Amino acid sequence: MCVMAEGDKIDVAVIGVGRMGRHHARIYAGLDGANLVAVVDADDDRAGETADRFGCADYETVDALLDAHPDLRAVTVAVPTLQHVEVAGMLLERGIACLVEKPLAPTTDACRALIDFAQRSGATLAVGHTERFNPAVRVVTDMHITPRFIEVDRVSPMTFRSLDIGVVMDMMIHDLDLVLMFADSPIKRVDATGVAVLAENEDVANARLLFENGCVANLTASRLALKTHRKMRLFSEAAYVSLDYHQRSGVAIRRSDNEQALVEIRSQIEAGADLTDIDYSELVNVTELDMEAEHDPLTGQLQSFLHAVATGDSPAVDGAAGMAAVDAAERVVAAIKEHTWAGLGKARV
Ligand SMILES: NC(=O)c1ccc[n+]([C@@H]2O[C@H](COP(=O)([O-])OP(=O)(O)OC[C@H]3O[C@@H](n4cnc5c(N)ncnc54)[C@H](O)[C@@H]3O)[C@@H](O)[C@H]2O)c1
Repeated sequence: MCVMAEGDKIDVAVIGVGRMGRHHARIYAGLDGANLVAVVDADDDRAGETADRFGCADYETVDALLDAHPDLRAVTVAVPTLQHVEVAGMLLERGIACLVEKPLAPTTDACRALIDFAQRSGATLAVGHTERFNPAVRVVTDMHITPRFIEVDRVSPMTFRSLDIGVVMDMMIHDLDLVLMFADSPIKRVDATGVAVLAENEDVANARLLFENGCVANLTASRLALKTHRKMRLFSEAAYVSLDYHQRSGVAIRRSDNEQALVEIRSQIEAGADLTDIDYSELVNVTELDMEAEHDPLTGQLQSFLHAVATGDSPAVDGAAGMAAVDAAERVVAAIKEHTWAGLGKARV
C-alpha cells in the first residue's frame, strides 16, 4: 500500500451522485485534503449537472473514469446497495481505496467478497456508517460506559427511495452498527417482527438482540411514520444516557453525580417514609451533554476516510464492521420471517 504524506491533496471521485453521492461530491469539493477530479453516474444528465456544480469531470461508467484517471487513489461508492459489489469490487481489485455507502453490501457473502478484494490489493475499505461521526454518538463513546440495555427508535416518513431493500437494511442498520459497537459482544439471540406494507420488503420492524455479555438491545425502525425521530437510550451501571441524534442533543444521569441522593432515598425507603411528594426529576442531577461539533457527521466521515488513505491506518468503520452490521441485519430479517403470528402462521415478508 502506497502511503502519502499527510497534507497532500488526495484525488477522489464519487460513483453514483444521487441522493447521497451528491453530498459526498459537495463536501469533497470543499475539503482542503481532497481534490474532486470526477463524478460518475449511469444517468449522464445527473453526472453532468453535478460536475458543472463542483467543477470536475463527469463520466457515465467506472471504466471511462479509470481510462481518464489511471492514477486515481480514492472514491466514494454511492450507487444503490445491490450494485455495491460490482462497482466497489472492480475498484478495490485495482487497489483504489473505497468508501462504500452503508450497507456495505446486501448480504454477508457479498461483504466478504469486498473484504477479500481489499485484502488482496491492500486497498483501504471504509463503510459509510455516518452515525459514528454524529457528535451525540461520539459523546457516549467517550463516556466508555458498558450498557446493560439499549433502546433505539428510528422512524421517518416514506421517501419512496431505497425500496430495493427493507427498512432493516436501509434504516435499522445504522443502529445495528452503533448497538454492536456499544454492546461490544457477539449476538446470542435475535427475536424480531415486521410488516411489509408498500412493497415486498418490510417497512416497519422491531428487534430484540441479546448479546453474550447479557446486554439487551431493543430496536424499532419505520419508514412509514408521520414524523422523523431518532432516539437512543442506554442504561448502564455507571449512567443513564438519552440521545436524540436527529436533534443532536442528549442528557446523562451519572451514578457518580447522584450517589449521595441515592443513599438518602434508599435509607428513607428502608425507614418506610412516604416519598410520594418527591419530584424525582428534581432529585437527580441531569447533565446536558455537550454536542458541539467542528463538522457535520458526513464531513467528519470523509475526513476520516481521507486520513486512512493518506496514512494507511485502518478506517474508523472498516469492512469487518460493515459486514458485522449486515450480518446482524440478516439475522433480524431472518427472525422476522420466522416470527409466527397467532392464527396467521409465519410472517409474509
Ligand atoms: N449514510 C446514509 O445515511 C445514507 C442515506 C441514504 C442512502 N445511503 C446509501 O447510499 C447508497 C445510494 O443511495 P441513494 O439514496 O443515494 O440512491 P439514489 O438512487 O438516489 O442514487 C444512486 C445513483 O447511482 C447511479 N447509479 C446506479 N448504478 C450505477 C452504476 N453502475 N454506475 C454509476 N452510477 C450508477 C444512479 O443513476 C443514481 O444517480 C445506497 O447504498 C444507500 O443505502 C446512505
